[in-house]
Amino acid sequence: MGNFITVLITLVIYFAILKLVKYKFRMRNFLKAAIMIITIAHTKGGVGKSLISFHLAIAMNAAVIDLDFQRTIIINNEMRANNGKKPIAVLQTKTMQDLIKLRNHNIKYKGTNKEKTFIIDVGGFDSDVNRVAIAIADLIIVPANDKTNDIIGLHQFKQIINEIEESTNLKLKPMLLINNVSPMTKDFISLDSFINENKNFKLMKSILRTRADYYKTLETGTGITEIKNSKAKIEFKKFMKEIKKEVKNGQKKD
Ligand SMILES: Nc1ncnc2c1ncn2[C@@H]1O[C@H](COP(=O)(O)OP(=O)(O)OP(=O)(O)O)[C@@H](O)[C@H]1O
Ligand SMILES: [Mg+2]
Repeated sequence: MGNFITVLITLVIYFAILKLVKYKFRMRNFLKAAIMIITIAHTKGGVGKSLISFHLAIAMNAAVIDLDFQRTIIINNEMRANNGKKPIAVLQTKTMQDLIKLRNHNIKYKGTNKEKTFIIDVGGFDSDVNRVAIAIADLIIVPANDKTNDIIGLHQFKQIINEIEESTNLKLKPMLLINNVSPMTKDFISLDSFINENKNFKLMKSILRTRADYYKTLETGTGITEIKNSKAKIEFKKFMKEIKKEVKNGQKKD
């Protein structure tokens, strides 16, 4: 009887370990395959989409999909290479089909180092491709400041978000990022009331203020996180931390 119990316990432990190993293996493969798409979007021009995309790509070792016809990122990246720094991967994925393939993880990673995070720098206009870039994102970041024209622009962008939701049946959760605002400003009343009126938007806690370091570093294609002693760097790191937290929370909900 004693022997029988010992064999039974051994078998139970054996199968439990087997199950655990299998689960760990599956999880590892799953994590290996998972890609993350962060879309920096706003139909209004000049809000900081390309600037944020570039610095974020360097900081997160991510590839950028450049949908900005001004090729801002490509030019910044050339400056980076000319200054002896390892360029970031910039993908020329321009069609809706390519973006959908990327989402389904069967795109060829030509020209990348197999990065798993993709940052889409959406151009400051509305188009079908830009809408797909928003629809396939794990995280949508919408930079805006508190100037009147930016608030008007946000209301127009909100319409586009609503239309994408209607046509895809997706529930989007754009994250509003206050960017390029005075280092002195404490209250953002107009942005707060936009958030109160539009509950599908979420206000990010981090704020990126107007800092010369952002464009000074761009002259050499340096990432803001690659320099020392900078307020911009501190703010940007907080922003990245918040992104990571959001992604983690989003994954828990899935
Ligand atoms: N936090 C910031 N501090 C200082 N300058 C900033 C900041 N954010 C953006 N800028 C500046 O604002 C200008 C516009 O930025 P950017 O080109 O990134 O905008 P965009 O949204 O990509 O525009 P478009 O829609 O035309 O592509 C640039 O000169 C950039 O350096
Ligand atoms: Mg741009």
